[in-house]
Amino acid sequence: MYNVAIVGATGNVGRKFLEILEERNFPINDLYLFASKRSSGSKLNFKEKEIIVEETSVENIKDKRIDFALFSAGGDVSLKFSPIFASYGAVVIDNSSAFRMNKDVPLVVPEVNPEDIKWHSGIIANPNCSTIQAMVPLKVLLDNYGVKRIVYSTYQAVSGAGMQGIEDLEEGLKGNKPKKFPYSIAGNCLPHIDVFLDNGYTKEEIKMIEETKKILHNNNLKITATAVRVPVLNSHSESINVELEKSFNLEDIIELFTNTKGLTVYDDINTLKYPTALMASGKDDVFIGRIRRDFSIDNGLNLWVVADNIRKGAALNAVQIAELLIKE
Ligand code: A2P
Repeated sequence: MYNVAIVGATGNVGRKFLEILEERNFPINDLYLFASKRSSGSKLNFKEKEIIVEETSVENIKDKRIDFALFSAGGDVSLKFSPIFASYGAVVIDNSSAFRMNKDVPLVVPEVNPEDIKWHSGIIANPNCSTIQAMVPLKVLLDNYGVKRIVYSTYQAVSGAGMQGIEDLEEGLKGNKPKKFPYSIAGNCLPHIDVFLDNGYTKEEIKMIEETKKILHNNNLKITATAVRVPVLNSHSESINVELEKSFNLEDIIELFTNTKGLTVYDDINTLKYPTALMASGKDDVFIGRIRRDFSIDNGLNLWVVADNIRKGAALNAVQIAELLIKE
């Protein structure tokens, strides 16, 4: 049994951590909930018990003998407190982007690169939600056919922008002005997730590109991305265009996907079967459909990949990393 802490417990992903730990019956001895000073003293339920939320501070961490700390309170909190939790003996699994590209920190999707958890020194990073769901099918393609180039186009839900993102959609539908996004997200698509960088890309797009190379251990991959926020409450959808190195039969690829853990092939245009955000919400698997040849190039493939961004894209992936650590 383990002592587990959730940092950012009152947030969107934080609450999902609680739900998933309970659902999966994670072997917990004591569970500690941390958030900002604002939430100190508030209560959250876990297994029909109320747990009091504490302020994230050294004083509140130091005597708790925490084994696993699941972080989702933003990059600044992670940068400040992850090393402190680690110094008191916890393994931190961090959902922010703070440590993802740090060469001393593994970036892990359990179905894809489980071997990388072995070299952590107290902190393991959970990849970006859009990256995680893309990795599951891309790993299969890379291993079996080689990958030359990837073109990502994402259709991302507002839940990925936290409580404020959800509020902006709900309020926008009532005609109220946005607080989180620069324009209304109700009835709109915003080609703008995270901040703009000097090269014209958004940080979200660069995260997808760089994290893909790190997780798949392949710096030669050619990748480009356009990340778009859409007025969907939950679950990210992605169009992934891939150029493979070797020729392929579509049936073989579908069979490989069918046999991949964590991936559900949901693809039959005759019965209008293709994954959608609503059908993937609340489920653990990554769903894949519209699997078809890209006729414009040799060895081209088009995929439509949908997953619950708060579950597989965040909280579930982090809990699966902790489960893997226990197993190892
Ligand atoms: P709080 O509710 O006290 O503000 P979301 O992204 O869904 O909005 O969630 C953000 C999470 O990060 C919340 O749990 C929030 O707590 C927490 N958080 C924000 N700022 C801090 C901080 N300075 N220290 C600890 N937790 C923080």
